[in-house]
Parts: sequence; structure tokens; C-alpha cells
Amino acid sequence: MVAAINEQINAELYSAYLYMSMMAQFEAQGLKGIANWMRVQALEETTHAYKFYDYVIERGGEVKLKAIEGPPTEWANALAAFEHVAQHEAHVTSLINNLMDIAIETKDHASTSFLQWFIDEQVEEEAAAADIVGKLRLIGDNPQGLFMMDKELGARVFTLAAGMPAALGGGAA
Ligand code: FEO
Repeated sequence: MVAAINEQINAELYSAYLYMSMMAQFEAQGLKGIANWMRVQALEETTHAYKFYDYVIERGGEVKLKAIEGPPTEWANALAAFEHVAQHEAHVTSLINNLMDIAIETKDHASTSFLQWFIDEQVEEEAAAADIVGKLRLIGDNPQGLFMMDKELGARVFTLAAGMPAALGGGAA
């Protein structure tokens, strides 16, 4: 279980890196709202990595960090980037599901309970990405639509989820 969670720490940090890369592209293109959404997303992924990190420590395991793969650096447009977000989050969901399978198979009840938070989180993450992809498909090549969307995504604010490690400023779950 600890080895699998160590892999997940890497996957969460890769997610943060991926969204930071998207953030850089949209920042450069002047789509500050989309860049803001990616920034908040990257911050959330970092807190996910910390949550797994703290769990390993709490259970008396050893955290072993590995190299983080370099993310892509270019997407054709906002729709392509968000399609990538949706696809990536579906992949992360499968990783979390695999962790849950291991916890169940090994009758590791503490990990089952811990992982439930991530199962729920992934439902939200996938729904949020699908919602934006749907809107961007409707917008198509309409610059005014993209302008409105950029404004909407610029309103996203980072808030620390309940149950996050106290060192990050989080409270009890
Ligand atoms: Fe950490 Fe986007 O899942």
C-alpha cells in the first residue's frame, strides 16, 4: 500500500506540473482567467500530494519521491487543453480506484476510509472538467464566448478542502 501511495504522490505532483504548464500557455496568450483556473487546479493537486504524504507518515511508512515527468507545453486552444484536463482526471480516477482496490483486497480499512475522500474528489474533478469542455464546444470559434468563459474561469478561488493537513492551514475533516 505504501509503495502504491508513493506512486500516487508522484502522480499528483505531475498533475500540478501539467496544470502549471497549461497555466503558462494561457498566461502567455493573455487568457488570464483560464490561467487562473489552471493555477487553482495546480494548487489543489499539490495539496492532494501533501495529503498522501501525510498519510504515509501517519501510518509509519517511508515517503520516497521520484522524478516528475515533464508535461507537454503546448495545446492548440482552450478546448484542447480542457479535453486534456478531462482525460487526465479520468486517468487519475483510475489510479485512485486501483489504490482503493488494493486497500479492499488487503483488508486495509484505514486506507479504505482515507481513500474515500479522493474517490469523492474525483467525481467533482471529472464533472468540473466535463462542464467546461461542454461549454467550450458550444462556444466554438466565437471570440466573445471565449472572452466570457475566460472571465468566468477567472473567478475561481483556491480554498483549502476540509481535512487537509494542518500544516497547510486545513482543519479536521
Ligand atoms: Fe488530484 Fe485532479 O486529482
